[in-house]
Amino acid sequence: MQNADQTGELNENIPQHIAIIMDGNGRWAQKRHLPRIAGHKEGMNTVKKITMSANDLGVKVLTLYAFSTENWKRPSGEVSFLMHLPGDFFDTFVPDLIKANVRVNVMGYVDRLPDYTQKAVREAIADTAQCTGMVLNFALNYGGRAEIVTAVQNIATQVAKNELDPAKITDRTVDEALMTSGLAPYSDPDLLIRTSGEQRISNFLLWQIAYSELVFTDQLWPDFSDAELKKCVYQYQQRNRRFGGLK
Ligand code: FPP
Repeated sequence: MQNADQTGELNENIPQHIAIIMDGNGRWAQKRHLPRIAGHKEGMNTVKKITMSANDLGVKVLTLYAFSTENWKRPSGEVSFLMHLPGDFFDTFVPDLIKANVRVNVMGYVDRLPDYTQKAVREAIADTAQCTGMVLNFALNYGGRAEIVTAVQNIATQVAKNELDPAKITDRTVDEALMTSGLAPYSDPDLLIRTSGEQRISNFLLWQIAYSELVFTDQLWPDFSDAELKKCVYQYQQRNRRFGGLK
C-alpha cells in the first residue's frame, strides 16, 4: 500500500486547503469488539486534534467529509448517532475554536438534516462568524454529484431567465455555482487525504479535486494523528504540481 511512510522536515509550502475523507471508524471499533458508534465517537476526538494541528500548520481551509448523501443508507441507529455528533462536537469545542480564531462553515444539504443538527450547525457558524483564521469546513449531507446537479440547475435557471448567455459559461461560472464558492480563493483542495487504506474518492468534491494531490494512508481515522498529518503534508511537498503544464 502506498503511504505516508516516508517523512522529513516540512518546508514552508503548506497546502492552503486540505480536504480529508475520514474513513475507518467502523473498523477501528470492530478491532476492539466495540459497536461502530464507538469508532465515530473516537473519530470526533480526532477531528478536534487534527483541526488544531492543521491550524498550527497554517492551513487556510480544512474540509472534512462528515456525512455523505449516501450515508443515509446506514442502519438508523448509526445515522441517528452521527446526526447527534455535530451537537456534541460544537457544545464542547466551540470555545476552543474561538480561542484559535477558527471559523466554522458547513456545506451540504443542511436543510434536510434533523432540526437539532441544523440548530447545532447554525449556532456554531454564528458563534465563530467573527473568526478570521482557518475555516473548518464540514461536508454534511454532501455529495459531489448532487452538488454538481444543483449547480447545473441554478445555471440553467439563469439561462432560462435570459440572465446568462450559454456561450459565456466558463469554469468560473461553475465554481461560483458550487457549495465551495464561499471559500474562494481556496475553493479547491491542494491536498486530499483519505484514511483507512481505501483508495476511492466516494463522491467527494468531484469538480474541485481536478488538480489536487491525493495521499492515502492506512491509518484508521480514530488513529490519525498530528504526526501522520505532517507525513501526508510531507508527501504533498515531494510532488511536482504542474496543473497540466510543464515545470
Ligand atoms: C467513515 O468511517 C466515517 C463516517 C461516515 C463518519 C465520519 C464522522 C466522524 C469522523 C465523526 C466526526 C463528525 C463531526 C461532525 C464532528 P466508516 O464508518 O465508513 O468506517 P468503516 O469503513 O471502517 O466501516
